[in-house]
Amino acid sequence: MSTEPATPPEEITIPEEWHSLPSDPNYKFPGYCTFKYRGATMSSTHLQWGVMQQLEQFRGRSSDIIVASFPKSGTTWLQEIVWRVTHHQSMAGEKGPKTCLEYRFPLLEMQSQEKLMEMASWADMTDQRFIKTHLHYHMLPESVKTSEAKVLYVHRDVRDVCVSFYHFSRMINVHKYRGTFADFRDSFMRDALMFCPYREHVKGYLEHSDTVLCLTYEQMHQDRGSVVRKVADFLGVSLSDADVDDIVKNTSFEVMKANPDTNFRQWEDSGMVSGTEEGTFMRKGMVGDWRNYFTEEESEAFLKWRNEEVASLE
Ligand code: A3P
Repeated sequence: MSTEPATPPEEITIPEEWHSLPSDPNYKFPGYCTFKYRGATMSSTHLQWGVMQQLEQFRGRSSDIIVASFPKSGTTWLQEIVWRVTHHQSMAGEKGPKTCLEYRFPLLEMQSQEKLMEMASWADMTDQRFIKTHLHYHMLPESVKTSEAKVLYVHRDVRDVCVSFYHFSRMINVHKYRGTFADFRDSFMRDALMFCPYREHVKGYLEHSDTVLCLTYEQMHQDRGSVVRKVADFLGVSLSDADVDDIVKNTSFEVMKANPDTNFRQWEDSGMVSGTEEGTFMRKGMVGDWRNYFTEEESEAFLKWRNEEVASLE
């Protein structure tokens, strides 16, 4: 690992608050580099696309629903649950939503990319907005907090997050990660990966659990019905038992993996990922895949590291 700051692509002008971080040769996408911005690790793409400047235009609305997470924690899963909870009436009798989740739920921190891809952006949405974000709590626009927008957060066993993030970073072409899992885990613990520091990410939302609905991936596995009810209560939606059963059924891993609106296969067409050589977005969807990647000692050390900062808030 180099200790030298990475050389960003020439066309980037680096604003004062963005600080170049050491380069990681395991990322094979040309020009990929990271920065520290307001305490978070952000990628060159965020800087190039001017994502944080665009956020200054964001005005939260009381009807906004925001699903937040550290990447690979179950965001897509919670988004689909939220969507079905809030649309169960309009979807009655239909098999499912007819528009891909990325269009229904634009990413807060990627407006210009979505414009490039001719996708919906939060700026153009006039109806109720459903928005996804991986930003740390302290980076959310102030108007999200003052507008009474509803924020939901999902977190997951950090070991499974790390495994899932590793495969994701190998799979997507704008990263092309080619290091080993051990390299990746070290970078995770050194807060070097995009959207790290992980512990502060989780902590930031858990500290606001008086206003943010905080859920876990493991709860969604164990008892999705009760998660669906919690989400409905939080969003002020009333559901019958049959509605809950229907939502539970339609948000299983198998159903979402087969559903072109939720399985991210469109990324193959857009060149975001290249085929299935490194796996697909809907990879395993299980609790405990970390057992295939960590020894007992590594697992213990990793959990200890995580719990030092987060356990007291759970
Ligand atoms: P794995 O890589 O462990 O399979 P995110 O949406 O935050 O990027 O998280 C993606 C992870 O959630 C992937 O984990 C994906 O398979 C899993 N996932 C998505 N939908 C799921 C579902 N309905 N049930 C279980 N896991 C799901």
